[in-house]
Amino acid sequence: PDGSTLDAAGRLVVGGCVVADLVAEFGTPLFVVDEGALRAHVRGFRDAFARRHPRSTVLFASKAYPCAAVLGLMAQEGCGLDVAAGGELELARAGGADPATMVFHGNAKTDAELRLAIEAGVRYVVIDNLDDVDRVARLADAPVPVLLRVSPQVAASTHEAMMTGHDTAKFGIPSGQIAEVIARIRREPMLDLRGLHAHIGSQVLDVEQFVAEVEALSRLERFPVYDLGGGLGVRYVSSDVAPSVDEYADRLVDAVHRHLGAGVEILVEPGRSMVACAQLTVYRVVTVKRGPRVHVAVDGGMGDNLEVALYGQPFEPAIIDRDDEPEVCDVVGRHCESGDTLARDVALTRPRVGDLLTVPVTGAYCYTMSNNYNAALRPAVVFCASGTARLAVRRETIDDLLVREQLLP
Ligand code: LLP
Repeated sequence: PDGSTLDAAGRLVVGGCVVADLVAEFGTPLFVVDEGALRAHVRGFRDAFARRHPRSTVLFASKAYPCAAVLGLMAQEGCGLDVAAGGELELARAGGADPATMVFHGNAKTDAELRLAIEAGVRYVVIDNLDDVDRVARLADAPVPVLLRVSPQVAASTHEAMMTGHDTAKFGIPSGQIAEVIARIRREPMLDLRGLHAHIGSQVLDVEQFVAEVEALSRLERFPVYDLGGGLGVRYVSSDVAPSVDEYADRLVDAVHRHLGAGVEILVEPGRSMVACAQLTVYRVVTVKRGPRVHVAVDGGMGDNLEVALYGQPFEPAIIDRDDEPEVCDVVGRHCESGDTLARDVALTRPRVGDLLTVPVTGAYCYTMSNNYNAALRPAVVFCASGTARLAVRRETIDDLLVREQLLP
């Protein structure tokens, strides 16, 4: 990740910690977070907006890394949080974040979740649909500050599953109904409508699409607050070209000033671009099969990284701490399906059983969507800074797997 180096013996070092030593202590697969790089990056993000538009808030989209240590770090660094479920709110609270800094999302919020968010005193509840209006009206006993999520009709160029800004998406109010829903909200004394929200999608590499979003919002009734969502894409492999945070903030703030005015309050909700580059995953090579393809199988896979199987996201794995001739390989996981591939046709230092293999840029959504396929145990998360490694999430155990199981009477 950002800031990783090699020591004198040619071993990979993250946050001052030798990765091989981390593996000896914490096992594999392992999520290794470069805490210093993460904090510096988060500060850079906040500064980029604060400098250009003082009335701005960076909310970290919790879904990108919903663990208490990461959410707590974001709060320490002065970010608010986008929480999209009761569970995310509770994890953030467990990490020490103040609900007053949170914006509560969701396209299918239950009564229980809304009650939790209102009682916790979140900064805004984002209204996604008319049932949200009814629920808040019924559950609140004092006016709740809300934003309305609308469709900006921007079809972001990204994977179809991550496009959210079009009228046929399940999120927000389709463009033809916005005025009517605004009027409806205004008739409810328990809803205090402060502004609009839009989110066009994730892993968006063209900043002009965010500009289009702002333009679309400016064609609606004007409000004092705009939450512009997240979505900034990141560089996963060397051939990717991703906008810098400064470029993103420049174009977005400029568009806000031109189309909405310099006086509005803005919120942004980056998830992926805050955390992706701050983590790598370390695996142990379990077997190397040389046939029509070279299959390098590691002790994890789609149980800890669904990005490849779900979205075809390319990664650039590497064998670490050793030199040899390169060999073109497919890196595969340990799960029982062929979709469980981490990378295809990548040149690796000729792999051997027992090697350590790293996959960089796994900080976003990998922990989130890790799962127990084949009853695999989810990895530990370790924060590394100044040569000290701190366990943020311990590795799952067989006891964890069994804890909810009941023998039927
Ligand atoms: N705000 C809202 C309302 C969102 O729905 C999302 C992401 C974000 C902010 C943060 O977007 P980001 O900056 O991370 O792109 N499961 C997929 C990612 C789906 C993103 C969902 N919403 C993945 O594993 O890549």
